[in-house]
Amino acid sequence: MSAGSTQYDPVEVAVLSPDEVARARDAALAAIAAASDLDELKAARLAHFGDRAPLTLANAEIGALPPAARAEAGKRVGAARGQVRRAIEERETALEAERDERILTAETVDVTLPADRVPRGARHPDTLVSDRLTDVFVAMGYEVAEGPEVEAEWYNFDALNFPPDHPARAMQDTLFVAGPDGGEGSGMVLRTHTSPVQIRAMLTRQLPLYVVSPGKCFRTDELDATHSPVFHQIEGLAVDEGLTMADLRGAVQAFVDAMFGEGLRTRFRPDFFPFTEPSADVSMECHVCRGGSARPGGDPCRVCKSQGWIEIAGCGMVNPRVLVACGIDPDRYSGFAFGLGIERTLMIAHGVTDIRDTIEGDVRFSAAFGMEI
Ligand code: DAH
Repeated sequence: MSAGSTQYDPVEVAVLSPDEVARARDAALAAIAAASDLDELKAARLAHFGDRAPLTLANAEIGALPPAARAEAGKRVGAARGQVRRAIEERETALEAERDERILTAETVDVTLPADRVPRGARHPDTLVSDRLTDVFVAMGYEVAEGPEVEAEWYNFDALNFPPDHPARAMQDTLFVAGPDGGEGSGMVLRTHTSPVQIRAMLTRQLPLYVVSPGKCFRTDELDATHSPVFHQIEGLAVDEGLTMADLRGAVQAFVDAMFGEGLRTRFRPDFFPFTEPSADVSMECHVCRGGSARPGGDPCRVCKSQGWIEIAGCGMVNPRVLVACGIDPDRYSGFAFGLGIERTLMIAHGVTDIRDTIEGDVRFSAAFGMEI
């Protein structure tokens, strides 16, 4: 090319002729008008307004004209390029508006459409009760301890001071794990309570010891309104210097307050468990009639059967024989323990009359506990 040259080159500057400029401009305007989206417009801009576009190249040739011809050619090319630039801008504005309109239409949300929400599910009511009770004790500084569901007979019974002939071991209560030959003698059972976790905690943790152990338990019970062969318990254990039954009472009161609200009295009555001495059965004042049904002239109460009290847990001071079995000096340390059934607590708290409702998976039951318990 000869831009800047003073030589007149008739071939090169043909691009500056009115016809050529008009042709290049019309081609550009046609391509711009034909662009149906912003990508096509971009291509048209490159072809007709870019560095290699005919009008751009023509513009560069102006300097090659004799000085007298430059002004006119410059005006011509400038006018054509101005038209093209404006056409591009207008088309761009129009295409952008079209695009925005399209997006708005495509992404419209019709808030009047019926919702097709997928239910998210929720934790099982048993889990909610278990977590709630666990949280109460964790907040008081207890640690969560867990143990296996298939447990050695020694942990489940012997270390807990169950004599070899204790009826709880009998075939009608305990699910024994078959030995290698398919017969008895594996020494393993499906744990019948969470108390073996006490033994594991005492054998593996430092003293003083404060643990809470929620978990699944198994017994050979037939499934009926109040029994299930698979159920849950939560166990508490504290071993420290100078612990007394007064400390146990405080711990028991804490879970009653957490589960049923503050202000219900608790009562201990003598009971027997091989692993605690003394042992007690814990009752709380009925949270529905608050004892009123048992007073003269009180209205009958279905929840406590007009007893005024509801049994909720077993507890006691850890039997020194159990401490000894775990290598703990009973002259220096004492402990307390308690255990309660999760399903039973759930049923009492919410008036559930059939334990089978908690395992049959009817979503209407679970939904009633879906959010808060
Ligand atoms: N393990 C007992 C049961 O399954 C419940 C129990 C009673 C646990 C007294 C304890 C306790 O820790 O001290 O019936």
